[in-house]
Amino acid sequence: MTHPLRFGIWALVHGPRAAHQDPEEPYDASWQRNRDLVLKAEALGFDSTLVAQHTINPHQEDLDQLEAWSAAAALAALTSRIEIITAIKPYLYHPVVLAKMALGIENISRGRFAINLVNAWNRPELERAGIGFAEHDERYAYGREWITLVSRLLQGERLTHKGRYFDVQDYALRPKDLYRARPRIYVGGESEPARALVADHGDVWFINGQPLDDVAGLIRDVAERPRNAAPPLRFGLSAFVIARPTTDEAEAAHHRLLRLAEKDAPMKAIQKANTDPKVVMMQTMQKSARVGSNGGTAAGLVGSYDEVADRIIAFYAAGIELFMLQFQPFEAEMKRFAEEVIPRVRQRQTGAGSALRDSDRRVG
Ligand SMILES: Cc1cc2nc3c(=O)[nH]c(=O)nc-3n(C[C@H](O)[C@H](O)[C@H](O)COP(=O)(O)O)c2cc1C
Repeated sequence: MTHPLRFGIWALVHGPRAAHQDPEEPYDASWQRNRDLVLKAEALGFDSTLVAQHTINPHQEDLDQLEAWSAAAALAALTSRIEIITAIKPYLYHPVVLAKMALGIENISRGRFAINLVNAWNRPELERAGIGFAEHDERYAYGREWITLVSRLLQGERLTHKGRYFDVQDYALRPKDLYRARPRIYVGGESEPARALVADHGDVWFINGQPLDDVAGLIRDVAERPRNAAPPLRFGLSAFVIARPTTDEAEAAHHRLLRLAEKDAPMKAIQKANTDPKVVMMQTMQKSARVGSNGGTAAGLVGSYDEVADRIIAFYAAGIELFMLQFQPFEAEMKRFAEEVIPRVRQRQTGAGSALRDSDRRVG
């Protein structure tokens, strides 16, 4: 089955995505700014927003960090069409509590809520809270049992479960999801246990921004895995966009951000020291010079409006249905993307001779 090509934006819950010392993007991770940003995105036609979850700012701990779940609930009440995806690190919430919160926001949003299961990389966030920072694969083992419980509770099941980490007796959440079987489950993470987890328990796999051939290889690997009777897995891509009328202008804008990002070197050194070296995501991100988090410009969405539209179509043909995008300065570049790139993508999808047919797609 072919899913429509969708565009989303990263909410700015922890500051600018490319460079922190940019006069065009003063630091603002406030609720008011994120509220206005997401409402603007919805009005511009974006389909989805991703609210990252960090209890303390992962770049610099004295910087503001917007709380993801309270913000998501408020966004759910204020918006009417956009999907709201909110990240969650299993160690921070008991599965019963998290499932209850997710069902609440699902019903506030009238069926537009999703969770993004992520298994943590920022050591101090968990360690200094006294929760402890388990080893990489152990975190995934915990996350696997955790999502099994959450998924069943989200479906309204009366649950009895005794496992390695949780002991839940005769537990059912009401009201159930009033709009569908349960909120959607995304998974972000690139390691082997992340891939196994999403194939077994996810609906959509979020891939870090990287070149098309690498993304196509990752999709092939995970799409072939057994799904226990669940529908085929779907795929999203994180990317930082720099689109301009010409290639040269886009390259110049990329260089401006790369130069500014150099000023963040001390902050990045602290971040590196705080990061679990086994996290595959971080290894992927060392491969090339880029700006933006989660792969950023490594996905190659830097170029003229036509080049960026062509590359999006190529990713879609490889199986990506949701593009979760970052910009800087965010509001202005998001608007430019909506006005210049989205129409070109839609034109390519429907235009004579260049229509993307189901049969053209390598993975559905
Ligand atoms: C689209 C996307 C969004 C993510 N959002 C968050 C987040 O909100 N909070 C967080 O701590 N990690 C986030 N992560 C990072 C995951 O926690 C990271 O990939 C994880 O530590 C798994 O590591 P792995 O790549 O070794 O599987 C995100 C990853 C992706 C791909």
